[in-house]
Amino acid sequence: MKNIVVLASGNGSNLQAIIDAVESGTLEANIAAVISDRKDSGALERANRHGIPAIVMLRSQSNRDTYFNLLHDRLRKINPDLIVLAGFMKIMPAWLVEKFPMRIINLHPSLLPCFGGPGFYGHRVHEKVIESGAKITGCTVHFVTPDVDSGPIVFQKAMEVHDDDDAASLAERLSPLEHSLIVDAVNFILSGEFEVVGNRVIRKTL
Ligand code: GAR
Repeated sequence: MKNIVVLASGNGSNLQAIIDAVESGTLEANIAAVISDRKDSGALERANRHGIPAIVMLRSQSNRDTYFNLLHDRLRKINPDLIVLAGFMKIMPAWLVEKFPMRIINLHPSLLPCFGGPGFYGHRVHEKVIESGAKITGCTVHFVTPDVDSGPIVFQKAMEVHDDDDAASLAERLSPLEHSLIVDAVNFILSGEFEVVGNRVIRKTL
């Protein structure tokens, strides 16, 4: 059984989708731990409710270098097959990303490479989409590389932006798409049936 670790800062609805998929048998994986940088994160509550080790790592306790060194220690000890950033609102330093090449994926609430990079997270992304006048948005799961939100794209799902949408309605309608996307992406990556060619993730042909 492959081990995954989920990092989440917020509500944790995407973590919940992963938990549900594991419990229903549609995702063959063990969630070895959930790590959050916020003690009020819904993700921690969800982990606790399902008997998954829940680890709080508050950034306020340390400076950036110390923080990510501690996070690295944790991750190294667990040694998961895959690290899933499901609403983790911290940018990992390049050296940490490089310790886990093609072993970290991130869920992002837009169709990358649009509306990504530093400063684009959570509702801010949806606000920027509305402001831009874009007619289509969506969500992306990509491998994490040192360049923020620029790693090889694993999967995407698109949806229309309606004339009466605002950031909140976009987030609400996108949420179920994200839930299925993250589960599909974890399944796909753990299957190992892909190769990364440049910035492209390609399904291996048998
Ligand atoms: C999701 O919409 C995810 O795409 C976004 O945070 C939300 C977490 O929701 N991630 C980012 O913005 C990362 N840049 P959740 O806490 O309900 O899973």
